[in-house]
Amino acid sequence: MEYLFATDPQQLGQMAARWVAREILLQPELVLGLPTGSTPIGMYHHLARLTQEGLVSFTKAQTFNLDEYVGLAPGHPQSYASFMREHFWGKVDLPAGSAHIQRGDAADMEAECSRYDAALEQAGGIDVQVLGLGLNGHIGFNEPSHNLEIRTHVVDLTPETIKANAHFFPDIASVPSQAITMGIGSIMQARKILLLVSGENKKEILTKTLFGPVTTEVPASILQLHADLTVLADILLEEQGI
Ligand code: GLP
Repeated sequence: MEYLFATDPQQLGQMAARWVAREILLQPELVLGLPTGSTPIGMYHHLARLTQEGLVSFTKAQTFNLDEYVGLAPGHPQSYASFMREHFWGKVDLPAGSAHIQRGDAADMEAECSRYDAALEQAGGIDVQVLGLGLNGHIGFNEPSHNLEIRTHVVDLTPETIKANAHFFPDIASVPSQAITMGIGSIMQARKILLLVSGENKKEILTKTLFGPVTTEVPASILQLHADLTVLADILLEEQGI
């Protein structure tokens, strides 16, 4: 594991964008796995800037989002599709057909899970996966549980996750109770993983993730088993000796 320290969220966004831009420059046809949430917003901002300055291009890349809320159509203001349009898709040169996300409003969610996994497989799987970290240790929307799902599936969100994500919604009652998420197997099959973590309130869960037991109760702890994990955080961990 490589641990990169950023002094603040702004620097974290810049460093993350540079890290991703380097991967795109090395492999323009990159299959890139992408997260939502507050943490990656700075990264998207700087990737948009680098694209507008002509320093990076996504024309040959494909992106796959980690997750979407069940029940929200892509046009819903709080859908992750809207988030991606606002922060990334609408600001870079990624062709529309190359931006993949699950349909939260699919009539048959099981079929939607299969469709998404088939698209992932057709793309050859994820090359580089960018992740955020939930306060309870979730990645994508793979919540703490007795078992972890390998492929795309529908999940019941925990009360903790609903509360943590409520600030994106008008009120907590509007937060959907379910989501559709890429599975842990698809994430772990990525050649490289970049985990972004911001804020002192994530220090405890980041320590558990990186140095605690590997357990389904902290889904992100499985990342300890990944061969090429980079952690980029604005958090000082005693275990890192920094
Ligand atoms: C949501 C997303 C996760 C993300 C997490 C953390 O639950 N499904 O992919 O990592 O939020 O979000 P934030 O960066 O806002 O703390």
